[in-house]
Amino acid sequence: MHARRALLYMPGNQWKMITKSLTLGVDCICMDMEDGVALSKKTEARAAIAKALQELDFGKSEKLVRINAVGSGWEQQDIESILPYQPQGIVIPKVESFAQVNWASQILEAAELAHGWRVNSIRVLVGVETARGILNLNEIAAHPRLDAIIFGAEDFAASIGATRTVGALELLYARQAVVVACAAYNLQAIDMVAIDYKNTEALRIESEFGARLGYSGKQIIHPAQVEPVQTAFTPDEETIARAKQIIETFEVSQKEGKGAYALDGKMIDMPLLKNAQKVIERARAAGR
Ligand code: COA
Ligand code: MG
Repeated sequence: MHARRALLYMPGNQWKMITKSLTLGVDCICMDMEDGVALSKKTEARAAIAKALQELDFGKSEKLVRINAVGSGWEQQDIESILPYQPQGIVIPKVESFAQVNWASQILEAAELAHGWRVNSIRVLVGVETARGILNLNEIAAHPRLDAIIFGAEDFAASIGATRTVGALELLYARQAVVVACAAYNLQAIDMVAIDYKNTEALRIESEFGARLGYSGKQIIHPAQVEPVQTAFTPDEETIARAKQIIETFEVSQKEGKGAYALDGKMIDMPLLKNAQKVIERARAAGR
């Protein structure tokens, strides 16, 4: 799976932002057709994204397109207008059912077969950001085309009538439900946007908390958010060293016939080994 520590959106009709995004060294570039685009600019966004996919070099950044929600009336033309130009993935917002993911998956498969592209090569990432979406995570997460679930905080808050606060305690249940569903189905979990994009300190705190919850990445909306977020979702030297130490000592202790042992005054057993292995996996995915 592509590393997705930071997933940067820009409105699909903002050509300058699309070209700017190529210079940022960001893991994922997601050209938006949905809520970042005014109703009067939807057609323009489709055309600009199609052009970007054909003409621009995205380098190592993943090229994604966010279509409008399934059922919005825009979705069919959204997906058809860009699919021939082979995006690496499609982001579907406000997903509430398996059937909605499957709708996209069937269109993608037809295109893959028609163009001679590998079946399942175009991945799907879904936004789960409504009360129904959270209730139906179990069926949504099971779709084989999925790589990731993206938690949409503002849409979710609106969906349940919550008042947003800086610490986001009002979102904790849903934010954790997404991580649990992702872990159960081996998907990436991509955390909420920090809309106060000028506040870098708050962004670092929110990113680190998301990482501690188990998220593997975060949505962003501004170039200044790339570095803080990619750093927060890359295990640091100390964490990597500790994880390596646990993996090495665990093997020795198993050979000695001990399931649990002490390391620097702390008990280590199987769950700590598994957590250490996850750290190493994430470090590798981030190119460390
Ligand atoms: N992607 C790429 N480049 C971006 C960008 C983005 N999301 N947001 C801003 N930039 C660029 C600007 O074009 C500008 O480039 P320049 O220096 O070459 O002229 C530079 O970064 C600085 O931008 P700034 O002036 O600080 O931002 P702004 O005030 O013009 O715009 C926002 C602020 C929030 C409106 C804008 O960042 C934005 O539209 N973000 C995306 C919103 C979105 O997609 N929402 C839907 C998904 S949640
Ligand atoms: Mg949204």
